[in-house]
Amino acid sequence: MKEKIDEIKQKIVASTIQNGEELESFRIKYLGSKGIIKDLFSGLKEVANEQKREVGQLLNGLRTLAQEKFDSRKEELVSEDGEASKLDVSRPGDPIEIGARHPLSLVRSEIIEIFSRIGFSVSEGPEIEDDWHNFSALNFPPEHPARDMQDTFFIEKGEKEMALRTHTSSVQVRVMENEKPPIRTISPGRVYRNEAISARAHCFFHQVEGLYIDKDVSFADLKQTLLYFAKEMFGEKAQIRLRPSYFPFTEPSAEVDISCTICNSKGCNVCKYTGWLEILGCGMVDPNVLEGSNIDSKEYSGFAFGMGVERIAQLKYRVNDLRLYSENDVRFLKQFKGGI
Ligand code: PHE
Repeated sequence: MKEKIDEIKQKIVASTIQNGEELESFRIKYLGSKGIIKDLFSGLKEVANEQKREVGQLLNGLRTLAQEKFDSRKEELVSEDGEASKLDVSRPGDPIEIGARHPLSLVRSEIIEIFSRIGFSVSEGPEIEDDWHNFSALNFPPEHPARDMQDTFFIEKGEKEMALRTHTSSVQVRVMENEKPPIRTISPGRVYRNEAISARAHCFFHQVEGLYIDKDVSFADLKQTLLYFAKEMFGEKAQIRLRPSYFPFTEPSAEVDISCTICNSKGCNVCKYTGWLEILGCGMVDPNVLEGSNIDSKEYSGFAFGMGVERIAQLKYRVNDLRLYSENDVRFLKQFKGGI
């Protein structure tokens, strides 16, 4: 018996297991329920009593040896297999879909870039705003219709009544409160108005506010800054037109149209056959607003403007339905690959 065990031990040590199939036949041959080792264990009862202990130990050793050989080859074969598949250079790669930046982000970045070239920094403010920053500090009289439930989403937050900001002009106030002139900054951000959602209106959209305060800032500076912007954004041929308008926080105020880039001012359905498209509101910062933020209106003057990002994106990308910007339809979004 001892010799038999020794012989099998040699065989186990010498056996080469090359693949999964051979591994399985090794297992069946030595460790299986009808395998050699099981067989030897059954033969144990025929061994003389005084030798039982010794032979039993030898058999246990044999079983451990076979089991260990099986386990280690199994592990090696699995990792060899993994190694081999890693090295299979002929396997086709997994395609990686490159994402695209959102058209509004592209336009926002471009606006920031254009204004940064003439020294404007970027500042931001909260979307949940108090009455002071969104309305009162901007000279809105208490009964102004823009404060109505019609236009503004009000929120109750603790004791104070808050609102979702209706324009980025609230950031103007925050900047003036915290910085001393000269101030030259733009504030991009999302704004909210209580409007029915359609192709032309949405309950949220994006604006970029501009604010410039220094000694001797004039309306001519405003006009030239906006002309510079229009040409950088839409090309050398772009023209602007200012129409008198009213905002509580600027005096004088204007609305600015840009020559229609879609029909080259010849008249089309986008510009409603006028050749012009409104893109922003602007004006000279009202002295009341400066004083409200502790800026001496006798020493300093300034201009402000606020433009709609969706509007600019519409002109750049000819997207006529505002809803597309927030529907997250990949077929729409993936068209903007390769933008800056
Ligand atoms: N806040 C104004 C709006 O939302 C735009 C504006 C900004 C007008 C700054 C004048 C100056 O329509």
